[in-house]
Amino acid sequence: MGDQKFSSKSNDMKKANLILDKDFAIARVDERLFGSFIEQLGRAVYEGIYDPKNPKSDENGFRLDVIDVVKKLRVPIVRYPGGNFLSGFNWEDSVGPREHRPVKLDLAWFTTETNAFGMHEFCDWAKKVDTKVMYAVNMGTRGLDEARNAVEYANHPGGSFWSDMRRKNGAEKPFDIKLWCVGNEMDGPWQIGQKTAYEYGRSANEAAKVMKWVDPSIEIVACGSSAYDMPTFGAWELEMLEQCYDNVDYVSLHRYYQNLTDDTANFLAKSVDMDAFIKTVVSLCDAAGGKKHSKKKLNLSFDEWNVWYHSNEQDKQVLAQNRWGQALHLLEDVYNFEDALLVGSMLITLLRNSDRVKIACLAQLINVIAPIMTSKNNCWVQTIYWPFMHASLYGRGTALRPIINSPLYSSKDFDDVPFLDATAVLGDDGELTIFAVNRSTDCDMLLSCDLRAFEKLKFDEHIVLHHEDVKAVNTEAAPNTVIPTSEKVSDPENGLYNVKVPALSWNVLKFSNSTN
Ligand code: AHR
Repeated sequence: MGDQKFSSKSNDMKKANLILDKDFAIARVDERLFGSFIEQLGRAVYEGIYDPKNPKSDENGFRLDVIDVVKKLRVPIVRYPGGNFLSGFNWEDSVGPREHRPVKLDLAWFTTETNAFGMHEFCDWAKKVDTKVMYAVNMGTRGLDEARNAVEYANHPGGSFWSDMRRKNGAEKPFDIKLWCVGNEMDGPWQIGQKTAYEYGRSANEAAKVMKWVDPSIEIVACGSSAYDMPTFGAWELEMLEQCYDNVDYVSLHRYYQNLTDDTANFLAKSVDMDAFIKTVVSLCDAAGGKKHSKKKLNLSFDEWNVWYHSNEQDKQVLAQNRWGQALHLLEDVYNFEDALLVGSMLITLLRNSDRVKIACLAQLINVIAPIMTSKNNCWVQTIYWPFMHASLYGRGTALRPIINSPLYSSKDFDDVPFLDATAVLGDDGELTIFAVNRSTDCDMLLSCDLRAFEKLKFDEHIVLHHEDVKAVNTEAAPNTVIPTSEKVSDPENGLYNVKVPALSWNVLKFSNSTN
């Protein structure tokens, strides 16, 4: 980084430059980096993806307008069914004839779960939206027996008790779920059946071992600590991995950010914390492996990430008025423009760490802390939908490490934060995409991109997400308040491209290979 320092209140146009070469490869981006998450919570499933009485739904009860919008995101994998809900959930309750499925109290969210929507419905829905399932098994109230049965039910072709039950329940072919989470946030006191690292590590090891005996083709995600700032963080990873390192493939990370003090500059710097979090978990995994003299490397599954805080007060009221209700308006954050900028920077952070982060899930997908919202009559997208869509569509290929010179700023919690946050991905057809956030609250930036190492690039499009008001939101009545625009692009000069990136903006610079 450059050593210029500006206060975030200066008015001069800032300058930054970025140098790229196709040989500066970080890693091939695993497409599962653009995954998402649907929990059996609030209106994510009921009134979100499943609404049988709604005229907008198909014969399965799936909202067709929601399917259309989800498909535009090209989400490659969706984690399900929880989340906190998972730790009190019996997967068997969610299969078989609907009229026999039990109605139960969900102690994670203090609502009532009818189980009208379950494993079969989710796998069918996933097929419709062209995504894969990342299924989670309960390690709170349950353990290895239910976990291995779930794998047998979902993945075994037939001729056994559980696989034949699946066939009887209407799915002749296995669901063939390749990615499984063993538990959720097991060190959290809010979890049903919280565990110590040793308790969890032992049970996760045995569960993972027998799940793989049932189907050796599956991969398994073990629960990392529920948060970077948990007192258990660090020691949790080392101790649970001491128990289960050999039988699991990924360690999970979860992180949500907030802007409680209304400090935009500090809020936008929070992806720096995410970067440090990832690097720390990588070190912990490698330390655990090193201690075991293991040749195996564990990768990371950042399977919950987002901004989450706007709905906290409302949720308390909703539950005070309707404890044990169904399809409640819970965790319905209304995202503003600055949230979209931080989500953009979080995506840049994931791409920058794509050598070790192989899976990531934007939490969540519909209605619950989500990019997509529904009412009875409409489906609209929130501000955060846009950077997520751009990254998912244009962020596939090989992640490149740019050399960046940017002025820096300091905020309440962070020092030396680059105003320019950027990364790049080289697609398989030679198309190059640069993703960039200008974190400056008041200065546009002249960004020079040195792309001389690439021959014959054509600058196709500069997509910008910007709004004068950081608190601007998209609503059902005004769904297009914050939407991207396509800016005019300037001609290159000998591989040097100059672009103006507005103060507080998310930018996607798209180049194609003109020889194609
Ligand atoms: O995504 C909302 C909740 O956040 C999940 O249920 C839980 O895993 C996390 O604490």
